Amino acid sequence: MGAGYVYARWANPTVDALEAAIADLEGAEVAEAFASGMAAISAIFLAHCSAGDRVVAARQLYGNTHSLLLKRLPRYGIEASTFDLLDYEGMADALGGARLLYCETIGNPRVQVADLPRLAEIAATAGVPLVVDNTFASPYLCRPLEHGASLVVHSVTKLIGGHHDLLGGIVCGDAALIEPIRAVGRDLGATLAPFNAWLSLRGLATLGVRAERSCATAGAVAEALQAHPRVERVHYPGLESDPSRALADALLGGRGGTIMGVDLAGSRAGAKEFQDRLRLIERAASVGGTHSLIVHAASVTHTQLSPAQLLDAGISEGFCRLSIGLEDPDDLIADLSHALEAGNA
Ligand SMILES: Cc1ncc(COP(=O)(O)O)c(C=O)c1O
Repeated sequence: MGAGYVYARWANPTVDALEAAIADLEGAEVAEAFASGMAAISAIFLAHCSAGDRVVAARQLYGNTHSLLLKRLPRYGIEASTFDLLDYEGMADALGGARLLYCETIGNPRVQVADLPRLAEIAATAGVPLVVDNTFASPYLCRPLEHGASLVVHSVTKLIGGHHDLLGGIVCGDAALIEPIRAVGRDLGATLAPFNAWLSLRGLATLGVRAERSCATAGAVAEALQAHPRVERVHYPGLESDPSRALADALLGGRGGTIMGVDLAGSRAGAKEFQDRLRLIERAASVGGTHSLIVHAASVTHTQLSPAQLLDAGISEGFCRLSIGLEDPDDLIADLSHALEAGNA
């Protein structure tokens, strides 16, 4: 047993190796790993906020982060106000007296890219840290600390793990901000298991090639879907016409990422039937792995939102989130075309 390794909930050499690798990739002083992305996100708020504090967040959030901020934390006296990702004035006004500004690099599920330098400037003016969930980008596409963020958090479950076979989370930043987060993780027992750290390191070794391939395939799939008459709109930052394209060029190295949102013409039932007809793409809620996965946001990932909040977040009845894996692009396009065309019958 190495010096200092007295108990696995406190520290473990395999977990330390993962923390060092991801801190290095994000350009952070240190990192602290957690049992899941939500464990890492929860630890940030519990470590840096107390009863009576308020946080400001962009509205485009993963469903459980949304319910953590708007339902769970208020029970402990921590309030959150949320704003559209583009409402810079609203966020700046609300930040007076707040503890943190929070956003996702690529907002879940409509894949809007956050203007990180602008948000960092707003946070700095208010004297609060900007916390960025970089899950959908991974450190391969974006390193938020370079754009002014103070803390970066990941669901390691997704692109970093990459194989749909682990749960993990990690927070990266300066030691002074990470230390209280580490202490909360130990108290709550939200520590990453060594075997999951080992699986994450295995995933990290191929992150670059997987991300390149999935981004290229996602671009081809997005183009094909956009041209299909049954598709109302494709949300993908790599598309020339997408409102996030300029930010993707500036912050994601010109790549559009591995995830897209698809607005299908028609109802929730129509979206379900379309998904039922897919043969290669599987219905599951994760993203960023070897397999392409599709999910109906309103009934799976964002069930925590009321109908009004769904509308607010731009999630229609026919909205599906599609995560692109490592399959052959032609096979994916054929699968989607078949499922869309059969629906016209
Ligand atoms: C953007 C984002 N952040 C955080 C999480 C939570 O991660 P985990 O499932 O590892 O707790 C998810 C999960 O889907 C996510 O998509």
